[in-house]
Amino acid sequence: MLELVDATKTISLPFGSPLHVLRGVSLQIAAGESLAVLGRSGSGKSTLLGLLGLIDTLNSGSYKVDGRETVGLSDKESANLRGTTFGFVYQRFCLMNHLSAFRNVEAPLLHRGGIAWRQAVINALDKVGLADRAWHKPDQLSGGEQQRVAIARALVHNPKVILADEPTGSLDVATGRAVLDLMVELVREAGVTLVVVTHDPQIAVRMERVVELVDGVLMEGRP
Ligand SMILES: Nc1ncnc2c1ncn2[C@@H]1O[C@H](COP(=O)(O)OP(=O)(O)OP(=O)(O)O)[C@@H](O)[C@H]1O
Ligand SMILES: [Mg+2]
Repeated sequence: MLELVDATKTISLPFGSPLHVLRGVSLQIAAGESLAVLGRSGSGKSTLLGLLGLIDTLNSGSYKVDGRETVGLSDKESANLRGTTFGFVYQRFCLMNHLSAFRNVEAPLLHRGGIAWRQAVINALDKVGLADRAWHKPDQLSGGEQQRVAIARALVHNPKVILADEPTGSLDVATGRAVLDLMVELVREAGVTLVVVTHDPQIAVRMERVVELVDGVLMEGRP
């Protein structure tokens, strides 16, 4: 499904030597697989997730999504591929605060047109148990509920891959566990590929496979 070969990400700084954030990372992720990316703060986890989600570009190497090389795609091609392939979940939920849960979940569908989207939004909110909170704005929801809205938004357009960056990082342990359980269940049900960045070994054990980033170098297997 996703195939990164010898990818590097280097950031030039205004002074001093450039920062080598990812150094020759190769990673193949099969369709339907679940993978945890562990690593210390600053090891490059979010950067890797940004590359996988076509939010960021590599400096060298190759990245194929569903067999299609993404290096050299135009911004528009890349945005289209991103929109149809990926759903994103972030630590700080990243909901639009002035919009209701319904409007937030609707967002990934808006550029598509069609008439089935309304029902898709209702179904997605129903799956995360928030059908009765559709018209609440984020500040009228608990943290766990906000992350459930974000999960509904990530899944509403039937993406092939969910990329989650510390999805339970803003939640207390019990809520975090419940949210993770829900995400894993929904992803499995939909046959979706899941990549979760986390510091938390308890989350990592729930994934089929674990890799670790150490200073921008990827290690396969549990640390
Ligand atoms: N745009 C940027 N400009 C300068 N440095 C950057 C930029 N993006 C990332 N970095 C640096 O690259 C390194 C890796 O960052 P990244 O956000 O990928 O780490 P992380 O593993 O996700 O950390 P955390 O667990 O704290 O979220 C960090 O040292 C960071 O300061
Ligand atoms: Mg990060």
